[in-house]
Amino acid sequence: MRVLSGVQPSGALHIGNYLAAIKQWIPLQEKHECLFFIVDLHAVTVPYKPQDLRQNVWNAALDYLALGLDPAKSTIFIQSHVHQHAELAWLLETITPLGELERMTQFKEKSKHRQKANVGLGLFAYPALMAADILLYKTELMPVGEDQLQHVELARTLARKFNHLFGRTFPEPKSQVAKIGARIMSLADPTKKMSKSLGPAHFLAIFEPEEDIRQKIKSAVTDSGKEIVYDVKKKPAISNLLTIYSLCADKPISEIEKQYQGKGYAGFKSDLAEVVIETFRPFRRKREELLQNITEVRNILSRGAETARSIAEKTMKEVKEKMGLL
Ligand code: TYM
Repeated sequence: MRVLSGVQPSGALHIGNYLAAIKQWIPLQEKHECLFFIVDLHAVTVPYKPQDLRQNVWNAALDYLALGLDPAKSTIFIQSHVHQHAELAWLLETITPLGELERMTQFKEKSKHRQKANVGLGLFAYPALMAADILLYKTELMPVGEDQLQHVELARTLARKFNHLFGRTFPEPKSQVAKIGARIMSLADPTKKMSKSLGPAHFLAIFEPEEDIRQKIKSAVTDSGKEIVYDVKKKPAISNLLTIYSLCADKPISEIEKQYQGKGYAGFKSDLAEVVIETFRPFRRKREELLQNITEVRNILSRGAETARSIAEKTMKEVKEKMGLL
């Protein structure tokens, strides 16, 4: 089975990216043909600084490798190094209904605080580019967080539509979503999804200094009352912290609830900080080693792009033929 997934380099990778997505990618490498990419063409759909993007792409590559993506098992590459992503996106845009794009939650969220003149066509067409990413490799499975399901659905719709119009070409891709932690919430506002764009108090970057992790968890908002119980409606903040604890410590939530029965929030939060730090400590070490060997990272990305391009070229040949392009 062919598997594909990626993260946008629009800032430091956060624990939501890891717990819901990257953590699922690691075991898939053992059994399937996996492609993991750094989604830079999507990151330029909102205002950004070129020097930051460059740095973020390198950081994402280091993060991927430090967290356990293995270039001997998976194809790891940068989206813009495979020009066919943009080419297929254009062709798919010709069959993408405007109404589908207008309904996209992410588009609505990202455009709502901006004047129309400042919302680019790229942001609107973003889901068609994502469909191109997926269909270019005839992907069958995408391990993603819950917020990407609407985009995956569009890729499925476009695969069906293309097959119907031009003949069977693409399999209908499926998503794989974690049973718990598919939506990690902000530390400062548990009604919102953890995201880089909300500001530093809202997210925990995987590789931020340990002292900052302690500080951010200490300052994370909690709910009224003092029981440490999982109840998303009544206790959204504590439920989110319990989810993070459970995934990092690999312990069921019910066991953690028992462990903290009759204990206060402060102790729970300080233990959680240590659990999070411990989880990422070995990855931190690996990342430091990789930093000393940037040439090797560059080579991995260049070999990855070559492999990805060879698959992409074949698909584009077939797509163009089917669409009647000479
Ligand atoms: P991005 O960069 O927003 O997020 C990368 C992955 O992390 C997941 N994620 C979360 N999961 C749980 N809780 C959160 N708070 C949270 N925040 C992010 C996302 O669901 C995602 O799996 N459009 C995509 C990137 C993309 C892509 C693709 C993914 C482009 N093309 C093709 C898969 C296949 C995005 O912006 O992800």
